Amino acid sequence: MTDIDIASLTKQTESVSSEFEKDFAATSNDLSHKAIEDVRIKYLGRKGLFTAISEQMRSVKKEDRPEAGKLLNSVKKNMESKLDQLRTLEKKAALTAQLDAKAYDVSLPVAQTAGSLHPVTLMRRTLLKEFRNLGFIVYDGPEMDLEDYNFSALNFKDDHPARDMQDTFFVKDLEKTVLRTHTSNIQIHAMRNERPPMRVVAPGRTYRCDSDLTHTPMFHQIEGFIIDQNISMADMKGVIDTFLKAVFGTDLETRLRPSYFPFVEPGGEVDLQCVACRGKGCRICSHTGWLEIGGLGMIHPNVFEAVDLDSERYTGFAFGFGIDRIAMLKYGLSDLRQLFEGDQAFLSQFPVN
Ligand code: PHE
Repeated sequence: MTDIDIASLTKQTESVSSEFEKDFAATSNDLSHKAIEDVRIKYLGRKGLFTAISEQMRSVKKEDRPEAGKLLNSVKKNMESKLDQLRTLEKKAALTAQLDAKAYDVSLPVAQTAGSLHPVTLMRRTLLKEFRNLGFIVYDGPEMDLEDYNFSALNFKDDHPARDMQDTFFVKDLEKTVLRTHTSNIQIHAMRNERPPMRVVAPGRTYRCDSDLTHTPMFHQIEGFIIDQNISMADMKGVIDTFLKAVFGTDLETRLRPSYFPFVEPGGEVDLQCVACRGKGCRICSHTGWLEIGGLGMIHPNVFEAVDLDSERYTGFAFGFGIDRIAMLKYGLSDLRQLFEGDQAFLSQFPVN
């Protein structure tokens, strides 16, 4: 093989470089990922024009090699840096095109682009607002609690089957501790901390070992009670009716049905006329025309005793409603579990406030 001298190598690189500059200029005016790749392959690819020159290195005269190496290096660096420039320009152009295609109105109020609130949050806020309007204060209590607060002080006897009936989660290694099965534990906390007259509501998470279309192991309740002198069932019916009408509208009837809970006497359940069929009977209300909202009743004298209140002097009523249940009715949901699956497509349908 004949030796190549530096002069011939320089000549070749000059001619390839000037061709490269032309391609560089043309591509700058017509940017695309493919166009840039084509240029790279044409010069630096396995069979590229520059690659072909650098393969001659082996045949360069020994004394010319250091200089030839420098030359080829600087030509290659120049090509690579110009290809990088093209890539940066291409990215910028793509971003500009994207921004132009979708017009953003940066002057829109933040609330309109700030996501949405969870339906349970929306419902809890609505309920609390209505109860505040009725003069209630909002109380909080522990989700993991002693059996005393969740059961005993609420007049569940030690061997009462209702303790099993509520599908209780007991806390391992902690004696007499449960995940609360209802928000009624807050009744006891509040009654031991405050004295009547009292008007309290308390929303929160509750837990039962249960899962199907209308039950999730974690769910939400809102508890409430009023204690004063001379509180009667008429007060109870009036407050519940006013509250439900405020949430669902004035044209739906409510009704009370007798039922049993150890901590109330008499006890009952409150039904709302079906929001879907307005009382005619449909699939949602199992053709009864009514939907169950929750339990309620006059506070049992044994509960007053457990919190050291004089049951001769005071009377009161308590209620506990399922927030998820009410949200389901209000927003027309078909499956309670939708609320807790974290599906963005579902959740983003709800308003911001
Ligand atoms: N705690 C009861 C339940 O979860 C509901 C209830 C509350 C009933 C207050 C009566 C009074 O089933």
